[in-house]
Amino acid sequence: VAPQVPSRLDVSAWELRGIEQAGLSPHPWLADPVNDDLWLFKPVEIKNGHQQGEDWAESVVAQVSAACGVPCAPVRLAHRHGRDGSLSRNVVPDGWRIQPGSVLLAGQVEGYTSRAQGRPGHTLENIHLAIRDSASPPGFGLDRLSGSDTFAAYLMLDALVANRDRHDDNWAVLQRAVADASWSLAPSYDHASSLGFSLRDVRRRRLLSETDGLERWAARGTAWRFEHRPGRPLETLVELALRALQSCDAAARNHWVDRLHALDAGQLETIVAGTAGMSDAARTFALELLTHNKTRLLHGLHAAQGGGS
Ligand SMILES: Nc1ncnc2c1ncn2[C@@H]1O[C@H](COP(=O)(O)OP(=O)(O)O)[C@@H](O)[C@H]1O
Ligand SMILES: [Mg+2]
Repeated sequence: VAPQVPSRLDVSAWELRGIEQAGLSPHPWLADPVNDDLWLFKPVEIKNGHQQGEDWAESVVAQVSAACGVPCAPVRLAHRHGRDGSLSRNVVPDGWRIQPGSVLLAGQVEGYTSRAQGRPGHTLENIHLAIRDSASPPGFGLDRLSGSDTFAAYLMLDALVANRDRHDDNWAVLQRAVADASWSLAPSYDHASSLGFSLRDVRRRRLLSETDGLERWAARGTAWRFEHRPGRPLETLVELALRALQSCDAAARNHWVDRLHALDAGQLETIVAGTAGMSDAARTFALELLTHNKTRLLHGLHAAQGGGS
């Protein structure tokens, strides 16, 4: 039986409640008429007549994230005034406000400059310092983990899904609007740049058919949104994630490694098969990439534990 691929939700009639200015281009905040929840609508890009896959990438990553228990904004696929796109549900609870990493780091890291060449100051160490007192996102049952422990999971997720866009405005913290000591890391959002979202199907098919094609493509997944020096090799997303997991205490690290281990092929197939807007080549590529990156992460963790490779 062919899996039921859910259709897109038409949100053309949803009430416009505001315009988000924080991203690369402004996006509308829309209210779900059923329960008044706010969702950010992000239309897909069309480059040279080619519709990219930001929307299905967001959807697949949100589901993979949920399957691993990594806090993430829920995503739905949508359609608005003739444009395909994704919806990301507001992660800011009533009475809280969101503060992007760029603002947090600017207040406390000397030499940090947002969006500058080489991403000066956007390092794992500085992020850990900036969020060291934060809790994990509220409402995800992770009260025993800290904000830093959870940030490591975002980097593990990024490595798994080949998300190269974790810049300082693509992570944030949540603070109470009324000053009080409690604050937390915000759930993860903006996973549009994942799973080879911008590739064309011919390229996907070629990479899948060549010996080590996908593996070589995956190895070029570098952490270029984090500090790096010109002329020096960039750290891969997998290397950065391993470093972040190693810097967690053992209980937190084991928690995430167990969740990654438990993510099985059947679960991934169900997620990918149930996501609208993907071609067969995009589905195969995404699945093979997820499987390969999971293996890279687990091998790296095993080696770091003294298990060799
Ligand atoms: N689910 C969400 N809840 C609250 N704020 C969000 C959410 N998703 C995105 N934002 C805010 O909107 C900005 C733009 O969204 P983002 O998904 O990063 O789009 P872009 O691809 O344009 O960067 C983010 O930097 C963040 O401040
Ligand atoms: Mg963004």
